[in-house]
Amino acid sequence: EDSVSVGLLGVGVVGSGVIDLIEQHQAKLAHQLGCNVHVKSALVRNPNKARDVDAKTNGTLLTTNSDDVLNDPEIDVIVEVMGGIEEARESILKAFKAKKHVVTANKDLVALYGAELHEAAAENRCDFYYEASVAGGIPILRGITDGFASDHIEQLMGIVNGTTNYILTKMHNEGVGYEEALKEAQDLGFAEADPAADVEGLDAARKMAILGRLAFSTHIDLADVEVTGINGIDLIDLQYGDNLGFTMKLIGFAKFDGKQVEVNVQPALISKDHPLSDVKNEYNAVYVYGEAVGEAMFYGAGAGSMPTAAAVISDVVAVIKNMHRGVTGSQFVEPRFEKELKTEAQ
Ligand code: NDP
Ligand code: HSE
Repeated sequence: EDSVSVGLLGVGVVGSGVIDLIEQHQAKLAHQLGCNVHVKSALVRNPNKARDVDAKTNGTLLTTNSDDVLNDPEIDVIVEVMGGIEEARESILKAFKAKKHVVTANKDLVALYGAELHEAAAENRCDFYYEASVAGGIPILRGITDGFASDHIEQLMGIVNGTTNYILTKMHNEGVGYEEALKEAQDLGFAEADPAADVEGLDAARKMAILGRLAFSTHIDLADVEVTGINGIDLIDLQYGDNLGFTMKLIGFAKFDGKQVEVNVQPALISKDHPLSDVKNEYNAVYVYGEAVGEAMFYGAGAGSMPTAAAVISDVVAVIKNMHRGVTGSQFVEPRFEKELKTEAQ
């Protein structure tokens, strides 16, 4: 094909970045893929709203009718960056039915309905990727699934929410109050539509569930993740910690001993000697402990328009390469493998 058409669901912080980066890197993408990549149409709530990116000058049609995107026979790849759960889920299922490949940044959805969506993708021989759903621009899902393919991952630990890390950094380093720091994180586009998901630790819990699922090849129920957020933290708590040589961080932890999975998210005092104490602002960092590899650390921007859009486009590139090879792919936990692990655990 000379050109692959992409349909976007959402042109907000992440969707604008996707349009912008695809446009900026047209020539590089065409060279890599042997075809042009074009965002043909995009679903929004309000087409007249002022946006960071001028979709029209890029030739993208803005629409409020999801059928214009999901039922357009010229569109092969749907990128879901609208957020929320029910509408996004229905749209993705509709996309699979229409034999379109799907890329999403929506961790809420993947953490809750990942299994169902994987099944629908497989039934329809479609790709389903979600690299941007965990740790923004860091290619950690590929790192885990491909980099540790022949390894046994024992444990994961790190900072997977940019908003709370931004708030804690501003409070600790500059003495900024909690509310003001949260407002800054929202203005910079790091926070979720409802920032309670960030500050109460839910967003991190969802990401740890996705990471754990891929790392341990087993289902993790969100209800089993123990979560404490940073919403009860005061400047004084950070100052006490600092006096004792510690920095407060919201830490996600996941462990699998071959029988049981343990996942939790909680604020923790990290010694200033430890690299995690030095992860600032919206940055994320995750340690992966594998039997063969030993310890590996993934570090980088965990939120924001461009880093997240770059991760989304890396998935679009994977989809187009699969299309050209005539294969399908996904960030998939083999059910067979899951069964084997369950049997082993009994
Ligand atoms: P925004 O709120 O900035 O953008 C959402 C976009 O979707 C808007 O363009 C909005 O339209 C459109 N939209 C939302 N609901 C509907 C609907 N019901 N019908 C039609 N259009 C709709 O969100 P973000 O870009 O920040 O986030 C998008 C997704 O990416 C979320 O799942 C988020 O969790 C995830 N994510 C975000 C990151 C970030 O740093 N922001 C990082 C990693 C993942 P309109 O513009 O008209 O309002
Ligand atoms: N709200 C999320 C965060 C966006 O702050 O990490 C990236 O997933």
